[in-house]
Amino acid sequence: MPRAAFAAIGTFVPDRVVTNADLTRLMDTSDEWIQQRTGIRERHWVQPGTGNADLAHEAAKRALEAAGWTAQDVEAIIYATLSPDHMFPGDGCFLNARLGIPGVPALDIRNQCSGFLYGLSVADAWIRTGTYRRVMLVGSEVHSTGLDVSTRGRDVSVIFGDGAAVTLLEATDDPDRGVQAVTLHADGRFAKDLWTDAPGSVYSPRISHEMIDSEAIFPHMEGQKVFKHAVVRMPEAVRAVLERTGQAAKDIKVLIPHQANLRISEMVQRSLGLRDDQVFNNIQKYGNTTAASIPLALAEAVQALGVKRGDLVAMCAFGAGFTWGAALARW
Ligand code: ACO
Repeated sequence: MPRAAFAAIGTFVPDRVVTNADLTRLMDTSDEWIQQRTGIRERHWVQPGTGNADLAHEAAKRALEAAGWTAQDVEAIIYATLSPDHMFPGDGCFLNARLGIPGVPALDIRNQCSGFLYGLSVADAWIRTGTYRRVMLVGSEVHSTGLDVSTRGRDVSVIFGDGAAVTLLEATDDPDRGVQAVTLHADGRFAKDLWTDAPGSVYSPRISHEMIDSEAIFPHMEGQKVFKHAVVRMPEAVRAVLERTGQAAKDIKVLIPHQANLRISEMVQRSLGLRDDQVFNNIQKYGNTTAASIPLALAEAVQALGVKRGDLVAMCAFGAGFTWGAALARW
């Protein structure tokens, strides 16, 4: 049975860099508070008018070039995001049009910080069953246009950044390459501990002046609850995929934790007993880019650590839903 192997990753972040010092001009915060609590030094935010599919399109062009594919080689698009350009249709359709590949199926995934891993699982299943042989998997977010950048929203808004990363997955029969195992979970009892309430179809009308005034249109997070669950669930998921494949933490070349918060990544590393050179973080430069965070970090880790064909790459995520999971792949 074939499995899904990484052919290439393309990344794109908007030019505009927003430092912690820049945020102090919008809200009552400090570089020291943000770095101590999250590790973040700066993030990239779009200029007005740039959308989610714009970022994904740029990243997709880079991925196609790196793989030596044309857009016509793509047989299916999976697009993970919590910040689509519009209520509907999904951004996969907009990207399909930008790439000029009418007819190619486009599936949008709404699993927030775990969206990339959910997408990887679907892509791997399609490839294993022979449904498609070449799949484009996108993680892309524009958070900045949806954040409360006043002091009221500072606990959330300092964390998030915009960016996109596009991976190209291809069928391989090489047993030493490709996705080895994925585990996925959700626990909807915590759905309202990290969420944006409105606009929503549960309300009629879906958006009102009252919602805007009451902050319902902005993301809300029970930060400490998210933290406590994340540091348990991510290592647990990594252990599960290691066990399933008969491998140990020492075999991992690099772990890419979802870039939620540097403190969370450090606790995940300790829990798994990994060395510093086995874990890659870049949240310092990008903030939390949610569905884009794992592929954005994976692309940089491959360069920085010299990840070679056959090396064992682990990925784990935790986020809104709550949803979480982990994956193991050989590069
Ligand atoms: N700047 C300055 N002060 C702030 C800020 C800010 N940006 N935000 C909150 N504060 C203040 C609070 O008002 C509070 O003040 P008070 O003590 O006078 O009431 C104080 O700082 C402490 O607030 P807490 O919320 O208790 O701070 P905490 O230490 O829990 O840190 C944080 C908050 C960073 C959000 C932390 O809970 C966390 O990392 N949680 C994990 C959630 C996470 O990483 N989410 C990422 C998105 S979800 C995901 O991807 C998994």
